[in-house]
Amino acid sequence: METEGHHETTPLIAIDHITKRFPGVVALDDVCFDVVAGEFHAIVGENGAGKSTLMKVLAGVWPDFEGRLILRGEPRHFTGTRDAEAHGISIIHQELNLVEQLSVAANIFLGREQTSRLGFLQETAMTAAADALLRELECDISPTAQTGDLRIGDQQLVEIAKALSLEADILIMDEPTSALTESEVARLFRVIDRLQSRGVTILYISHKMEEVFQASNRITVLRDGKHVRTLNTVDTNPREITHLMVGREIENMAIGDDRTPGETLLKVESLSLPWTGHARQWRLRDISFELRRGEVLGVAGLMGAGRTELMECLFGTSVEPPLGTILLKGEAVDFHSPREARRAGIGLVTEDRKRLGLFSQMTVRENITICTLVESVTAGLVSMSRERAAANESMDLLGVKSAGIEAGITSLSGGNQQKCVIARWLRTNPDVLLLDDPTRGIDVGAKAEIYKVIDQLCHKGLGIMVTSSELPELITLCDRILVLCEGRLTGEFTRGEFTEQALMEAATRREVTVV
Ligand SMILES: Nc1ncnc2c1ncn2[C@@H]1O[C@H](COP(=O)(O)OP(=O)(O)OP(=O)(O)O)[C@@H](O)[C@H]1O
Ligand SMILES: [Mg+2]
Repeated sequence: METEGHHETTPLIAIDHITKRFPGVVALDDVCFDVVAGEFHAIVGENGAGKSTLMKVLAGVWPDFEGRLILRGEPRHFTGTRDAEAHGISIIHQELNLVEQLSVAANIFLGREQTSRLGFLQETAMTAAADALLRELECDISPTAQTGDLRIGDQQLVEIAKALSLEADILIMDEPTSALTESEVARLFRVIDRLQSRGVTILYISHKMEEVFQASNRITVLRDGKHVRTLNTVDTNPREITHLMVGREIENMAIGDDRTPGETLLKVESLSLPWTGHARQWRLRDISFELRRGEVLGVAGLMGAGRTELMECLFGTSVEPPLGTILLKGEAVDFHSPREARRAGIGLVTEDRKRLGLFSQMTVRENITICTLVESVTAGLVSMSRERAAANESMDLLGVKSAGIEAGITSLSGGNQQKCVIARWLRTNPDVLLLDDPTRGIDVGAKAEIYKVIDQLCHKGLGIMVTSSELPELITLCDRILVLCEGRLTGEFTRGEFTEQALMEAATRREVTVV
């Protein structure tokens, strides 16, 4: 074991030769390192490196493992998450774990509903307690709102409130900021600061080097289930960490300079999306733009600006029918379902892969080929060999890591699941591909691969629209960037004009309402 930053005292957690096997996969291979009380310990590694699995072992999700988990000097073997929670360990999972039909307050206190002596649910007490926690997180989510109605970023904050309510002194966060905007991330870090000053130890998984270097005391790198190194943050740099993660250098990306956009594929005129019963009245208001062949068009904006809603209008899945005109290859279209959009040549990769993107009961192969099954049909029979070949080809193209195409999709790491969703839409050969935050939760190496795929598709003549919560990503990828603020188009920039500052300014350019 190679551990720098040695401490004399008993570590809070000693991970002692932990191995975790799944059928066909060694997810953790003899991992050893320590966590010191009160530190902010970042865990990094490529998709599938074993980060989530290790955290699940610590949090009692996987009671079955080899090796020892020593907590405050005592070997522990948690029987489940409740047991881990009783010992002060709380986890916020990468794929959110909320019950969408329940209220925010009910989710926060799920399984610990406060009951009065007569056994009645103390709904008011719960709502008030939830409200206090949410206020501590500086967010204005109503405790009585139905959780399923919240956007993914807000749902994540509900998960954090839930962990706070457990009064954990070890808080594990598995990519908590992957769906948050910059200001929400800043807010989260203020909350974490406050927790740390109370002595809470933070274990934090992230693919974002900036965050890791801004906040952590130490960094542990995992690769292929093995512990590579644990370093003091001040003694290292992002380049070294990336190198340790992938075992090679990542080339600097310079793509898109040689693109020459062709004819107009998509023309949107005065698109508006009503917001019935809401003070703002419009989710989207009066948006016009064009997308050309061979072009990557970015959509920037803060959470709630309308990025996802815009994509949903184009794909026929908006909550209400939009107003205005959408012309696809010169013809007015009005989709009422994703099927219609797909037939006309539009594909969408969603930000919320658990809810809309993945078929969790199915295999990797089925998830990749589900939209293109027809291609594999001869004389009414699905040709398994053709389907398998297709799935294998896609897996190679995007570098999907799994135990094979027949593995269940949920056995893959988060980033690899996302690659399967992208692979599926690439197989449908669309003219227009809508990518809603496609690299959310994807590691640096895989991101670079996906950028290359996007660029190649552009050269093949697709028109691509992409949203991202990371401005540098849009700046690398796009020929043009539209900026939304509160449902309105507040800026449009072409390559060469974009700077993070200019984009941020447009993204915060609120309408001044005259009362
Ligand atoms: N429930 C499971 N069943 C079978 N295999 C699993 C299961 N969970 C994880 N694995 C496998 O274990 C390995 C590690 O996965 P893990 O989810 O820990 O990766 P990760 O480092 O969190 O990746 P990411 O950055 O993509 O979230 C992967 O090969 C994955 O396919
Ligand atoms: Mg993970």
